[in-house]
Amino acid sequence: MNKRIKINRLLNAESPMKRVLVKGWVRTRRDSKTFSFIEINDGSCLRNMQIVADASLPDYEEVGKISTGSAVSVSGALVESKGGGQKWEILADEITVIGTAPETYPLQKKRHTDEYLRTIAHLRPRTNKYGAVFRIRSELSWAVHKFFKEKGFHHIHTPILTGSDCEGAGSLFRVTALDLENPPKQDGKIDFSEDFFGTEANLTVSGQLSAEMFALSLGDVYTFGPAFRAENSNTRRHAAEFWMVEPEMAFCDIHGDMDLAEELIRCLVGHALRECAEDLELFAKFVDKSLMTTLEGIVQNEFVRLPYRDAVSILQKASQPFEYPVEFGTDLQTEHERYLTEKHFKKPLIVYDYPKSIKPFYMRVNDDGDTVGAMDALVPGIGEIIGGSAREERPDVLKHRMLELGLPEKDYWWYLESRIFGSAPHSGFGLGFERLMMLVTGVNNIRDVVPFPRTPKNIEF
Ligand code: 4AD
Ligand code: MG
Repeated sequence: MNKRIKINRLLNAESPMKRVLVKGWVRTRRDSKTFSFIEINDGSCLRNMQIVADASLPDYEEVGKISTGSAVSVSGALVESKGGGQKWEILADEITVIGTAPETYPLQKKRHTDEYLRTIAHLRPRTNKYGAVFRIRSELSWAVHKFFKEKGFHHIHTPILTGSDCEGAGSLFRVTALDLENPPKQDGKIDFSEDFFGTEANLTVSGQLSAEMFALSLGDVYTFGPAFRAENSNTRRHAAEFWMVEPEMAFCDIHGDMDLAEELIRCLVGHALRECAEDLELFAKFVDKSLMTTLEGIVQNEFVRLPYRDAVSILQKASQPFEYPVEFGTDLQTEHERYLTEKHFKKPLIVYDYPKSIKPFYMRVNDDGDTVGAMDALVPGIGEIIGGSAREERPDVLKHRMLELGLPEKDYWWYLESRIFGSAPHSGFGLGFERLMMLVTGVNNIRDVVPFPRTPKNIEF
């Protein structure tokens, strides 16, 4: 028997084929007296393959029982379709049911809400919309590696179990191998010296600190991996587990950092427009009517670069009220970010030189003493998609910052040594991969671009 061929290949065939084998899941079946039409999808693309089952088939009675959701195997000839709607169809000579699906199969032919589909996250990739989301996610993930490969960056696998808190935000998931029923104690407190690593450990919130060590060795590097944050913020753009792309470049300042951030976003959006056209069309039709205009605008136009101080003046003069007032020293909230990118500039922008007081210890202090070389890229519909900075490479300034923030030098001895042995200016950033997915698809909830989302009180699947 010949090998199964993916439906996307067959739909792009140039000539008929005598005998092909396809396998997939039944989307619909329509019967007439002399024929049954079965639409099957195998996940290789959005479109289905139409199977024509002639009443002369030996098991034709069984064909009439094939239900939506069943897994089937079909062999037959690939022929030009007589009906409209598709170029090719398969004239079946054998149809085998591999796995049946009873009437309780939840994805019958009607539109379901995103909320409902989240409750069946194990089945939702079998719908058109979620199939498309996860094909695009896969394509963009490959495009990230392609982008950095072509620029000569090295891919570093930074650790997931760590002992540090890069962002200093304290929203860590703790990791322990201790018996929680009966933990060892010292002076009434849990004694982590008895734990697996002999000290407290957590899941990483960012690969940055490790990546910095490799930038200061291999030059230009990036990591692309999961990050974990126990922020209890139930928003549509935060997840407890998300993926981050983190480049880190030696001998690079904040301006080079912003250049790379802009180039990366525009390149990834362009890649999606070229390589995921069919899937994107679905989102432009059913999810966000202005999607294509937004995406093409991102590819074609330069981003605005705006110092934080100027962002504050614009926000203070805004005609609309904000829930949180803004002045120098306040962090920008989503409402402010979205005002700047959606209403004021109507395109992506990069805000830079934020106040020192609201940013982590590793950001490079500017000459004014009040601001740091931080930058956030903001895009329409989402707000912050990238956060990054120049890193403080001067050991004395870094130590001073750590002291101010109460970070013990002994916990960061290796980080500090990188500033003593051949220190060099370097910069990097983190691109939230789910936020990129939201931008590219127009899907407005992070839960709908993650295969099995982890958010507060939600780890069922
Ligand atoms: O701005 P953040 O916190 O920056 C860092 O973690 C740096 N260490 C990155 C670096 O310089 N190497 O996070 C970077 C990006 C954000 O802009 C956002 O897109 C995304 O990561 N992000 C989240 N995405 C989903 N859910 C969350 N809880 C997120 N927190 C951050
Ligand atoms: Mg940030």
